[in-house]
Amino acid sequence: MTGIAVLGSTNMDLVAYTERAPRLGETVTGREFRTVPGGKGANQAVAAARAGGDVLMIGAVGDDPYGDLLRAGLERSGVDTGLLHTVEGPSGTAHIVVDGTGANAIVVIPGANGTVTALGPGEMAAIAGAELLLLQLELPLSAVIEGARTAHAQGVRTILTPSPVQPLPPGLLDCVDLLVPNEHEAAELSGFTDPRAAAQHLLGRVPAVVITLGARGCLYAARGTDPVRFPAPEVTAVDTTGAGDTFVGTLAVALAERRPVPKALAWAASAAALCVQRPGASASMPYRTEIEAA
Ligand code: RIB
Repeated sequence: MTGIAVLGSTNMDLVAYTERAPRLGETVTGREFRTVPGGKGANQAVAAARAGGDVLMIGAVGDDPYGDLLRAGLERSGVDTGLLHTVEGPSGTAHIVVDGTGANAIVVIPGANGTVTALGPGEMAAIAGAELLLLQLELPLSAVIEGARTAHAQGVRTILTPSPVQPLPPGLLDCVDLLVPNEHEAAELSGFTDPRAAAQHLLGRVPAVVITLGARGCLYAARGTDPVRFPAPEVTAVDTTGAGDTFVGTLAVALAERRPVPKALAWAASAAALCVQRPGASASMPYRTEIEAA
């Protein structure tokens, strides 16, 4: 039995580090350029595997050189890539600007991720045999919905990161056990900018919500209980790319290990705090020993 299945994207992140991000129409001179494996799905898979999870990645890379590098990166972190297909054409890429505060802006070009429109019998069986399924919104919605439905029908718990944010069909949310938006995504989905109000609203659609609040920690809310805010460790961020994915991947491991929710959230927050102190998405994700030490 695979513990954690991830149905999601794999991108090569092309990252420009600059003191100040350019406005539209403006050119600025940056500090450094890095090519780092990323993609919300692959990031969550790497975070979960490094945190000690038994992780399977479902998705697609292209038959370009990035595809081989992305697959190898996942495997080095211990992720099973047996259901990560190689398709004709370019891999997904993410074009990222990180400013002097560590904040980022991202344009994703789906490439191979866009070919994952439906699941085959192998993918469905893997999801049905997992304990938890992690989903994001960088694959076509048809595949995300099919994955969530397959999991739900088999009693497999699902965690959805609604990013990049878009209107979510009720058919999808009906199959989600835990929704993990950041505060901007929560506001977009609920219409409320106040995280507590957003959480209350979203609880009308899913049984539990964690709204991530960056350096301010997160807000956890489950049906029938009052929302509770959990702080994040105080650290100096150099690159926040992938912090949310680290949070979700490590949270999944803690939940699969049946840790109580407050402990699971604290563990995930420690992992995300370690991630933001180093550059790059998957490259910056901590291993279990580091999280335990933190
Ligand atoms: O969540 C961070 C990720 O978003 C990056 O790694 C990039 O690939 C985009 O998908």
